[in-house]
Amino acid sequence: MEREKKQTRVWVDGCFDMVHYGHANAIRQAKQKGDYLIVGVHSDDEIAKHKGPPVFSEKERYKMVRAIKWVDEVIEDAPYVTTLEVMDKYNCDFCVHGDDITTTADGTDTYHLVKNAGRYKECQRTAGVSTTDIVGRMLLMTRTHHLGPEKINKDTVGAISQDHSTQSPWTGVSQFLPTTKKIIQFSEGKEPSPEKAAAKGDFVIVGLHTDQDVNRYKGANNPIMNLHERVLSVLACRYVSEVVIGAPYSVTADLMDHFKVDLVCHGKTPIMPDEDGSDPYAEPKRRGKFEFLDSGSFFFVFPSRFVFFFFSFFS
Ligand code: CTP
Repeated sequence: MEREKKQTRVWVDGCFDMVHYGHANAIRQAKQKGDYLIVGVHSDDEIAKHKGPPVFSEKERYKMVRAIKWVDEVIEDAPYVTTLEVMDKYNCDFCVHGDDITTTADGTDTYHLVKNAGRYKECQRTAGVSTTDIVGRMLLMTRTHHLGPEKINKDTVGAISQDHSTQSPWTGVSQFLPTTKKIIQFSEGKEPSPEKAAAKGDFVIVGLHTDQDVNRYKGANNPIMNLHERVLSVLACRYVSEVVIGAPYSVTADLMDHFKVDLVCHGKTPIMPDEDGSDPYAEPKRRGKFEFLDSGSFFFVFPSRFVFFFFSFFS
């Protein structure tokens, strides 16, 4: 009882529509400020009242937030204006929000009550990503922002990394470049330790395809998020143990042996052939180590395409 009282309980709330790594980064920072993190997610009605209907339904948003590895508990239908009552009900010491102003439909600061009570802390908002930005990328059907790898020369790469006005060659609108620090921060957290994974008998490795591969089989302006952004999105997911950045499109014998893969899984979306027309999963199928998964949803939790590899430490 005494120990429980000393635990710092943190509250974060929001819409979390089309959950992205900006949301995950806010949640990660909030968790760092305490011991136990409670995330309040607004209902569809509450969001519609203050800023218009969300893209994802409340059921989907609740599920997506629960999948973020730094989240200890999700409170459904949290009030848009954070009240002291809701904070007290869940024993939260303070509330955390990104350093941007959020207002209700009539212009009131949604955090005025907790601010006045001295129970408000800020975290750094992640630049370069927002729900509006992602929707914009989806609607931007031009291919002019795409460059093939042959068009990326030293000058282009230099410009991308130095000039803030420069756009990513793959998504056009993104200027996001992850540092090793950011990748390490996202790799830490509630991941199963190797021992725990071994005891459980499984470990999930996500292979992320390069932007060129995704564009080849998905066309148009895909991917909506570039490889760097997809790495962070997938690392934020509590079920992911490790990520292979830029995994080959076809699951090769070498890859399966190297990672001791017991099972290769793919969702219910169609499997596009590799460049030479071959089945990218021919090798795992030949070994009897391939399975289809049903995510139970038409939407992916993260707007990226990925492949799951499960393997046992005991194999
Ligand atoms: N957040 C962040 N960085 C971003 C986007 C959101 O740190 N790029 C934070 C917000 O400051 C807030 C939390 O994520 O603390 C939940 O935000 P949410 O209510 O979903 O809304 P928005 O701030 O409107 O997010 P977006 O602009 O992406 O819709």
